[in-house]
Amino acid sequence: PPLDGIINAHDFELAAKNSATAKTWAFYSSASNDLITRDANNSLYNRIFLRPRTMRKVMNITTDTTLLGKPVSFPLFVSPAAMARLIHPDGELAIGRACKTRNIIQSISNNASYAAADIVSQPEVSSHPFIFQLYVDKRREKTNALLAQIKSHKNITAIMVTVDAAAAGKREADERVKADESIENPMQKNKPKNDKKGGGYGRLMGGFIDPNLSWDYISWLRGEIGYDMPMLTKGVMSADDVKMALDIGLDGCVLSNHGGRNLDTSPPAILVLLEIHARFPEIFRDHHPNSASVKAGLTKPFSVLIDGGIRRGTDILKCVCLGAVGVGIGRPVLYATGYGQEGVEQLIDIFRDELEVAMRNCGITNIDQCGPEYVNTGDIDHM
Ligand code: FNR
Repeated sequence: PPLDGIINAHDFELAAKNSATAKTWAFYSSASNDLITRDANNSLYNRIFLRPRTMRKVMNITTDTTLLGKPVSFPLFVSPAAMARLIHPDGELAIGRACKTRNIIQSISNNASYAAADIVSQPEVSSHPFIFQLYVDKRREKTNALLAQIKSHKNITAIMVTVDAAAAGKREADERVKADESIENPMQKNKPKNDKKGGGYGRLMGGFIDPNLSWDYISWLRGEIGYDMPMLTKGVMSADDVKMALDIGLDGCVLSNHGGRNLDTSPPAILVLLEIHARFPEIFRDHHPNSASVKAGLTKPFSVLIDGGIRRGTDILKCVCLGAVGVGIGRPVLYATGYGQEGVEQLIDIFRDELEVAMRNCGITNIDQCGPEYVNTGDIDHM
């Protein structure tokens, strides 16, 4: 369908389903085993209700905020997702340009279908910030070489290390369709080879990821990357792992179950956000980048980001009210990339517009005002 008939993230999904090849659709939409986690990601937000306030003079509002020290137009970011070129020849290049015109941040996957260097050095985006998502290679010299390259780009301003991929998830829909063996991952320089288990791209191309990744290595990497570059772990699914990240000096975490693609029956990330409130309230009280103590310079900022199943502006608002500073979208961006840069821009505009409507109708005029008093989590508090 033409782009002007598309009015929400679901429309982009349907358009991709109808136009992408069977293999591309299988790779993008699939998740592990019985899809319990993927489907719960999508549905749990519907069990959190908003607590709107009225008569708050909401004609003029702003969604401007900062993410990892960079000004952004609203608290949305693009989650790292592999192989955007499967749906459009411009792939991640188009996503990067759209993020620049809309002023949000793209996380570039280690398994992107364009090298990070090509994405970040497009002239249109050369002064726009990017996050690089790293998978630690079993061969550490490969990781070191990749990081050295990444650090040479001034506009890659943060590193996100994905830690939830110790084993490849069993994504059955993707396994059932043969992989195209001519595809090459430009940064890892590997290709998929179909085998007896099937053709799943994630499994066939993820063999380099180190299951022996440890906190020792993450601590070492923290120093190696340098303290001027924010470093986060992505794929964190327990409050204890968030607390450890803070304690060893990381700058944040991405609460994520990888879109339900790795460990099926792992919980929706919003439950981990609630777990942090219950177990380590000081993480938000003393380390939220907007907290009084960080603003007074008394404590260091720690940014909690979240992704998985975000499909509406109200989902973004709920996460931000519960303390997230950045809310990520994975599949919706890939689906919108089917329409190139313009499609991704339209998707971002839709999310922003929906967020503004939700803020106005909740009586919230800027992102700093968001707080847990605007959400009713009663239905999921004991999950
Ligand atoms: C991903 N994701 C992912 N994460 C990561 O850290 N590195 C990667 O290379 C990829 N690749 C990838 C490919 C595809 C096709 C998908 C759908 C996802 C996970 C991604 O960053 C994010 O956590 C989820 O996509 C968020 O869930 P939604 O928004 O897709 O529901």
